[in-house]
Amino acid sequence: MTMRKPMVAANWKMNGSDALAKEMLSALASTNLNELDVLICPPATLLHAFANSASCVLGAQNLSEHTAGAYTGELSAALLAAAGARFVLVGHSERRTLFAESDQALAGKMQQAIEHGLTPVYCIGENLQQRQQEKTGQVLAKQLAAVYASHPEFLAKSVIAYEPVWAIGTGEAATPEQAQQAHAAIRQQLAQYDSKAAAEVRVLYGGSVNSKNAAELLSQPDIDGGLVGGASLNAEEFLHICLSA
Ligand code: G3P
Repeated sequence: MTMRKPMVAANWKMNGSDALAKEMLSALASTNLNELDVLICPPATLLHAFANSASCVLGAQNLSEHTAGAYTGELSAALLAAAGARFVLVGHSERRTLFAESDQALAGKMQQAIEHGLTPVYCIGENLQQRQQEKTGQVLAKQLAAVYASHPEFLAKSVIAYEPVWAIGTGEAATPEQAQQAHAAIRQQLAQYDSKAAAEVRVLYGGSVNSKNAAELLSQPDIDGGLVGGASLNAEEFLHICLSA
């Protein structure tokens, strides 16, 4: 049986403040969380507030698919790494939908992240219509193939996050059974690219995770942690989720 270290990640999206960063740091420092990796993805302008913290690792929420140059407003992997990020979310559904990020652009972002030593947290998930039409497996397979079919070697350097779009910010999390089923399907699909890495890669669940549902979701055999949005904006609540992992 492969041991995968649990990870609980906070995605603050376009929220947060220096004050919240301080609260989060003191909450995390108050407890022994050595058995898991705590990842905080604040807005890039708040990465500095977590510098040198021993209680969490830092991630960015997005990166450019380009290395450097005339891309006003963009942040490269190298800039994010220099600001303290070790991880980066790639392909969050809000990026895919609201900013029209294509599979091709996402493959470029994965490449940039890995080339510059950032671990990508590659986010995938079906929307409500796709689930109702029973296309979940197909959608997940396509999103995974967009990156790993041409670069199976990226898998060993990734974290995957399954975030069903219908569960994001809705208060309606997937049931533990629905989530486990999707996670198992993801792992099975990934085994086609690299069976060893597929057994070892952490697959996080995201979508309305809170302190009440976390323990049951995170105890499923193929769920290796959570990617938490709204509930990560409250330090106490986030700490509870961490303690459930
Ligand atoms: O990336 C985390 C996310 O999209 C889930 O958000 O608010 O449903 O926990 P939320």
